[in-house]
Amino acid sequence: EWAAATTVRQVTLAAPRSFCAGVERAIATVERALDRHGPPVYVRKQIVHNAHVVADLRERGAVFVDQIEEVPTGAVTVFSAHGVAPAIRDQAAGRGLRVVDATCPLVTKVHAEARRFVARGDTVLLIGHHGHEETEGTLGEAPERMVLVPDRAAAETVPVTDPARVSYLVQTTLAADEVAGVVEVLRRRFPALAGPASDDICYATTNRQQAVAAVAVAVPVVLVLGSANSSNSHRLVEVARAAGARAYLVDDVSSVDPAWLAGAEAVGVTAGASAPPRLVDEVVAALRALGAREVVEHRTTVEDVHFTLPKEARSS
Ligand code: F3S
Repeated sequence: EWAAATTVRQVTLAAPRSFCAGVERAIATVERALDRHGPPVYVRKQIVHNAHVVADLRERGAVFVDQIEEVPTGAVTVFSAHGVAPAIRDQAAGRGLRVVDATCPLVTKVHAEARRFVARGDTVLLIGHHGHEETEGTLGEAPERMVLVPDRAAAETVPVTDPARVSYLVQTTLAADEVAGVVEVLRRRFPALAGPASDDICYATTNRQQAVAAVAVAVPVVLVLGSANSSNSHRLVEVARAAGARAYLVDDVSSVDPAWLAGAEAVGVTAGASAPPRLVDEVVAALRALGAREVVEHRTTVEDVHFTLPKEARSS
């Protein structure tokens, strides 16, 4: 069926793409826990939002649960990269779980900012998406003092206790333009609005968006490897579309519809921060088999970020 798309001659890989430091750390944390304690190791929620990563770890003995109540008393339990509300930590302690916290340090930073703003009396507006595990965890720092603001429309109407004491924070995987629009509305309504000390949108999100934009201006079609529940992967699709390409989110090579490639001589490829590099390799191999002669990488920046493992995974 891929034979239909025989016009493809060139593949341009966006770089940076695929795993970020927080995802690598989270996966290594589960692997380390499996090595050390043996299966089963419980993981609250998907360790990262990628179907392939979850399936691989499940195969090796990780058991993914939605609720702390599903974990047997005293069992080894990993918290996912997206972070957890303090109430979840309390629940885990109540069950005597041996917790290994794989929350990305850049999410932990946003939690700390939330506590700081709340402690000085602010209403904290969290710019982010409804129902995402990261925003649920961050809002959990002070549910009665924090409000989720998903978009400009919500920013126009969000109620605050004292307009002179308002601050905002941002989910780590949003697009900068989107956030700027929301902040603009908030600043108009609350001139005293305070923001985070440094950008909450993480380096990996920023770099992958810049990289895909640089590719998407030059190719008609962009394939983004990532799972449907991956926030940062969705943003890559949106950024590629805004740069003028047709863009599609695919879990792996099997979900590429060859009709998308019809008439295209060049195809751009990238991957969200939770998508394994091998998924990109498989797409490239399929495009080569179709006739792509040239595979080039367009790199917009070099990343050199690594996080040490959580202390529970380091100590013996
Ligand atoms: Fe952390 Fe950003 Fe990755 S918040 S998990 S480095 S996408």
